[in-house]
Amino acid sequence: MGTVHGGLDGGVELTAYLVNESRARRPELAADELAAAWIPEAERGAVRELWEEFAGAVYPHDDLVVSLRGRFIADTLARALRRDPDTVLVVCGAGFSSYSWLLPFRAALEVDLPDMAAAKRRRAAELADSGRVPGSAGREVRHLAADLGRAEDRALVAARVRELAAGRPVAYVAEGVLFYLPAEQARAVVRLGEEFGATVLTAVSYWPAAAAGSVVLERQRRWFRSRGVPEEASHLTHHELTGLLGGEVADLGPEDLQRRYLGKVAVPESELIPEYVAVAGVAGVAGAAEAAG
Ligand SMILES: C[S@@+](CC[C@H](N)C(=O)[O-])C[C@H]1O[C@@H](n2cnc3c(N)ncnc32)[C@H](O)[C@@H]1O
Repeated sequence: MGTVHGGLDGGVELTAYLVNESRARRPELAADELAAAWIPEAERGAVRELWEEFAGAVYPHDDLVVSLRGRFIADTLARALRRDPDTVLVVCGAGFSSYSWLLPFRAALEVDLPDMAAAKRRRAAELADSGRVPGSAGREVRHLAADLGRAEDRALVAARVRELAAGRPVAYVAEGVLFYLPAEQARAVVRLGEEFGATVLTAVSYWPAAAAGSVVLERQRRWFRSRGVPEEASHLTHHELTGLLGGEVADLGPEDLQRRYLGKVAVPESELIPEYVAVAGVAGVAGAAEAAG
């Protein structure tokens, strides 16, 4: 269902605009000072309106949830870079995220559906031309159009990553995308890093099976239906992720992330989209231990 053309008219790509606005509202919490720049001024009003409509119909705290998950991922990636400055970044379902520019990665590959990948490539070039993001000197960001729900496309992603990384360590992010894929495809995306050569860190966000009955998710399904965004969602469990990622997994939910970054739980999980961030790999697990401390 839905009109699967990109952007504000509908389709799953619309979610990239929504979460971008969520970070643009909390740039300090998200540690994303570029968030606002991804949407051209002429479109920002429409994006803001869309966000307000979503906030009224679903929940008014998407800025909190999305900024916290992004902040945790940014901190985790920064740790991986400190361990090895040659680390290559791979972001699946990249949307309008900024890690490839905010952090000093020398090489990055961003993957998204064709319209989104084209929109991001175009906007990144505009921002580089106007000096708002660093240009290509010392940094290579590639954009790849691929449907992560298709095995052939995932194989293409893996081949492109191996070529770009050329043996360097890889930090792999799949944020805000797994739940839009059927369960089997979502699992394959979690494991995709196995095919990159030397993945040292995997960070994924997901909705736990235990929260499938969430009233906020139910309101979101209804709103998605009205906006042409496919409403089916897949869920995972911590145990499943541990099996898929083959080792210790740090797994922080919206209350854990609020404690970590706000020092308290300002909004209980029952009033939020129940989005968890799971990280595997040395930099990730060590980082979560810091969180507990
Ligand atoms: C909620 S947005 C998250 C974007 C970004 N990761 C962030 O956190 O800002 C979901 C993104 O996943 C992308 N996406 C959804 N289904 C996809 C698929 N089958 N293949 C590739 N990308 C997909 C959408 O186009 C969109 O950019």
